Amino acid sequence: MGLPYSLVVRPAMRFIDSERAHGLSVGALRLLAENRATQKVLASVYRTPSIPITVFGRLFRHPVGLAAGFDKSAAALGAWPALGFAWQEYGGITRFPQDGNPKPRMFRSDVDRALINRMGFNNPGAQVVRDSLMKRRTAGRWPSTPVAANIGRSKTVDNERAPDDYAETLGLLYDHADFFVLNVSSPNTPGLRELQEDSHIRDVVSACIAVRERRSGLKPILLKFSPDLDSDVMLSCAGAALGAGIDGFVATNTTISRPSPSNTKSRRILAEQGGLSGRPLHQMSIESIGTLYDGVGDKVPIIGCGGIESGETAWNAVTNGASLLQLYSALVFQGPAVVGRATKGIRKRLKSEGFADLQEAVGYARG
Ligand SMILES: Cc1cc2nc3c(=O)[nH]c(=O)nc-3n(C[C@H](O)[C@H](O)[C@H](O)COP(=O)(O)O)c2cc1C
Repeated sequence: MGLPYSLVVRPAMRFIDSERAHGLSVGALRLLAENRATQKVLASVYRTPSIPITVFGRLFRHPVGLAAGFDKSAAALGAWPALGFAWQEYGGITRFPQDGNPKPRMFRSDVDRALINRMGFNNPGAQVVRDSLMKRRTAGRWPSTPVAANIGRSKTVDNERAPDDYAETLGLLYDHADFFVLNVSSPNTPGLRELQEDSHIRDVVSACIAVRERRSGLKPILLKFSPDLDSDVMLSCAGAALGAGIDGFVATNTTISRPSPSNTKSRRILAEQGGLSGRPLHQMSIESIGTLYDGVGDKVPIIGCGGIESGETAWNAVTNGASLLQLYSALVFQGPAVVGRATKGIRKRLKSEGFADLQEAVGYARG
């Protein structure tokens, strides 16, 4: 299946614009996801090895999950486990429905293996997503793998009122995810990244923890960072979030920085505004994972995200401190076979370097 994807699907996708291609693939997955027979076929094609790790008190079959932004409205929850992912994050969801930025707003540079997006949290809003997830659960179509929800700030809400906005969305989705990621790091909502400052972050996290205290079941709440933060700012912000009760960190979201273009087409695409993901982001993400691991890795787990596209990049993230991993861009460039490549690569390294299990390799390169 990896071969047909690279020979047929990817070249065909090149001729349609990136967002339409994305919409078509989520649409197709949605159809497959609702059908147990096709799910079974997919699961046997995209088989992944078992590399168990327990994080947040939950057992993950292997570390690789789907990153936020691919299944924005949680439309294809049943499909991701069938494609080999051990867990998934839906969203970003905001309290109010949003159209996002004008199109085109998603761009692909094949030569750089990079995406640029300025979607701007297009989503149906927390209430609509909650209703559809309730229906899914009632119909017995809830996946057996862990599910995270990504929460963003509504565009019409300013940073002073952000704590209530995040808290209300968390309250609406609380029964419909196993853990939550507060996204304060998307470059596509004006002012959002300014929330990565000690007092703002304390208020946002405290408001969310207060919601959790009123509910049953202590579900983990994580914070997702931008790779563009200076390491001392990131660590100070992480400290403030820990003080307010955060349970972990995701490193990282997309970057507003740009690599040198590889050719004329790449120059044109890299000039687009928005957040860059994929291969050129990898080293920056690894540095952020390492910074967090060195600073607060003894307190909470870190989820690594950014340019994970192979066994080597996945291993890099684990040994620099990530207990779990996520990917988005590599799924666009390689298709679902990337999950097998990453997990098989990790298993091979665990064996060849003599680790007893995955947990033992987490942060190993940091000394
Ligand atoms: C089109 C697109 C939409 C995204 N939307 C979100 C989002 O809503 N919330 C979020 O936290 N991250 C979002 N992301 C960021 C990804 O979750 C991930 O952090 C980033 O793409 C880096 O991983 P990658 O290099 O594997 O793509 C989005 C990324 C892309 C490409």
